Amino acid sequence: KVKAKAKAEPKAKAKAKAKEPKPAGNYPVVVCGGCGGIGQPLAMLMAMDKNVSELCIYDLDISPMPPAGVAQDLIHLERKCTVKGYVGKLNEPPMNFMEEPLTGAHLVLIPAGLPRKPGQTRDDLFKINADIAKGLVEACAKYCPEAVLAMIVNPVNSIVPAMAELYKKKGLDPMKIIGVTTLDIVRANKFVGEETGKNPNFINVPVIGGHAGATILPVFSQDKAGKLLPAEKVPDMDKHVQDAGTDVVNAKNGKGSATLSMAYAGARFGSAVLSGLSGRRRTECAYCASTVTDLPYFAQPVVLGPKGIEKVLPIGELNEHETKRLEEVKVQLKGEIDSGLKYAEANS
Ligand code: NAI
Repeated sequence: KVKAKAKAEPKAKAKAKAKEPKPAGNYPVVVCGGCGGIGQPLAMLMAMDKNVSELCIYDLDISPMPPAGVAQDLIHLERKCTVKGYVGKLNEPPMNFMEEPLTGAHLVLIPAGLPRKPGQTRDDLFKINADIAKGLVEACAKYCPEAVLAMIVNPVNSIVPAMAELYKKKGLDPMKIIGVTTLDIVRANKFVGEETGKNPNFINVPVIGGHAGATILPVFSQDKAGKLLPAEKVPDMDKHVQDAGTDVVNAKNGKGSATLSMAYAGARFGSAVLSGLSGRRRTECAYCASTVTDLPYFAQPVVLGPKGIEKVLPIGELNEHETKRLEEVKVQLKGEIDSGLKYAEANS
């Protein structure tokens, strides 16, 4: 009896401990391009995250606002984190300026790069944005090789493979390079909410494939509100999610692409990464190296854990429309992945 009691006690203790709320994490986070249209509101939302202990805003000497100014502004939020600004020079390698902000960082959010103008596709931005991303990713490889790198810069479909291959060649973990596609999920949830009258807070439509045009595949059938959409509406809703970014580009009339909704989505993803690092696992869709289809990179749900991506989940069951669309996704995505792989080949 005594033995049984002794055995039971540690079990009960462990159970009680598991129920105790885990303490908030203390993670240094960096936002590269932190003074841009996405960068500023993203930095603000990250400064409000309970898991962030230090936020570094990095941007160039030509940015629309000095990083020190954005930092000085955000430092007054009544939150625990400290905020610092760091500035780089346009024509010099970011590596020269980033040792201090990147050393010890656990999460680096990268919205640095040019946004689309009306008439431009995400692919039109590739060369210039890939060069920007490469400089920043090389600095991360040197100063914070264990950090999760959340790539917001477009075209995500090509930039992530390019940067993940560069990480591989350096002997680093390519799964640390993650493409942020959360805005597609946010949009799909919102549009299903509008259509069905349900609260979008409780809608979670997985969006798989990639993050450009036809490669964006919302899987409405896997959400309980999404599956209420009448079959004849689904192709239009699918297109609405695919075109939503272009709708913002056109409405902004040459002055940029989605910034505020992107900052919201980027912070949702960033917070999920930090939550995972602190031991509270979260599942989000993201674009990364993957074996769930025959393509080497794909967006699907991933489990975020103490080291970043812990598991890449299967895409689950698709209905007839989604199965057909998956084939279309693969054709376009393959070409965009290949551009990224070629870039890595030519630039390493
Ligand atoms: P923006 O032009 O307002 O801001 C970009 C910022 O990056 C500027 O402050 C600029 O100085 C900075 N920057 C440029 N080169 C840099 C470098 N080498 N190092 C550090 N900072 C650098 O552009 P916006 O609207 O914030 O968009 C940023 C990127 O995000 C674009 O590539 C855009 O296409 C992409 N984007 C991605 C989305 C997604 O869902 N993943 C959605 C919307 C935009």
